[in-house]
Amino acid sequence: MNVLIIGKHGQLALTLMHSYPNNIEPIAMGRNEIDLSSTATISSVINQHNIALIINTAAYTNVELAENNIADAFYLNEIAAGNIAAAANIAGIKLIHLSTDYLFDGAKVTPYTTMDKPSPLNIYGLSKLKGEAAIKRLENSDFTIIRSSWLYSIAGDNFLLTMLRLMQERDSLHVIDDQVSCPTSTYELAKFIWKIAAQQHKAPTYHWTDLGKASWFEFACSIQDIAFKLGKITKKIPIVPITSSEYGSLAVRPSYSKLDISESQAILEAKPWQQNLEAIIKSL
Ligand SMILES: NC(=O)c1ccc[n+]([C@@H]2O[C@H](COP(=O)([O-])OP(=O)(O)OC[C@H]3O[C@@H](n4cnc5c(N)ncnc54)[C@H](OP(=O)(O)O)[C@@H]3O)[C@@H](O)[C@H]2O)c1
Repeated sequence: MNVLIIGKHGQLALTLMHSYPNNIEPIAMGRNEIDLSSTATISSVINQHNIALIINTAAYTNVELAENNIADAFYLNEIAAGNIAAAANIAGIKLIHLSTDYLFDGAKVTPYTTMDKPSPLNIYGLSKLKGEAAIKRLENSDFTIIRSSWLYSIAGDNFLLTMLRLMQERDSLHVIDDQVSCPTSTYELAKFIWKIAAQQHKAPTYHWTDLGKASWFEFACSIQDIAFKLGKITKKIPIVPITSSEYGSLAVRPSYSKLDISESQAILEAKPWQQNLEAIIKSL
């Protein structure tokens, strides 16, 4: 089966390219290879490569910059997602699209299920929600949305790699402690995506994260403890918990956006986030 992975240089796309099953022939494309502004150009790529499934990982993911670059965020997260879905719909092929826990506002104190109503607090979340709506509007049962949270990997722009760099450069770190979700390894998410790709009947929406929950502060402390234990960093520095308002971001983020993964666990058993974190730090 020929699978088009859109967003070639992103951390999830890179992981998918390192983990595909034997029966999959992946073709990864970045912004220089596929023009997402037009359904027609996406259709011609589908036809030219005989694509049976598209996995769309491309997104405007910088939550902070999105607040000022609203048009860019909506172009990629809504318009381009809609164009990809329209082209897949015309061709009669399958689509797996990635989405986010930042659709939710954090008013709940228990994990968000796929039945909970999204209410995003920032431009990134709103643009991703509009992207989901553009896909769902087509009412195509071959289309699936997989929401996840706090992705990290050995490559790309992510919290793990930023923390490891700052832990070497600085004498102390201040990290937000009043936002809770679940750090998620792109490796485990990729495994889940390939499981879903193999399923004949798919749900319209899945939630997938690693097991457990954490604040950014707890995530940072674990990164430091594990990296030091494995000899990946040479010193430990004080990590100070702070509030979101003390940090002073432009984008408002939910205080709680943990996703309920109980339905997805029947498809793949999730592992505790600390276990996956250790495996990834070990491989650095
Ligand atoms: N990162 C997270 O913490 C997180 C959390 C929850 C959900 N998600 C979702 O998971 C998916 C994958 O996230 P990720 O962390 O792998 O993202 P990422 O590393 O930021 O990669 C996104 C990719 O999108 C492509 N892209 C960016 N601007 C583009 C443009 N103007 N035109 C075309 N392509 C463009 C780029 O690929 P090319 O350079 O190859 O074009 C980029 O590498 C996204 O849908 C995201 O919303 C992410």
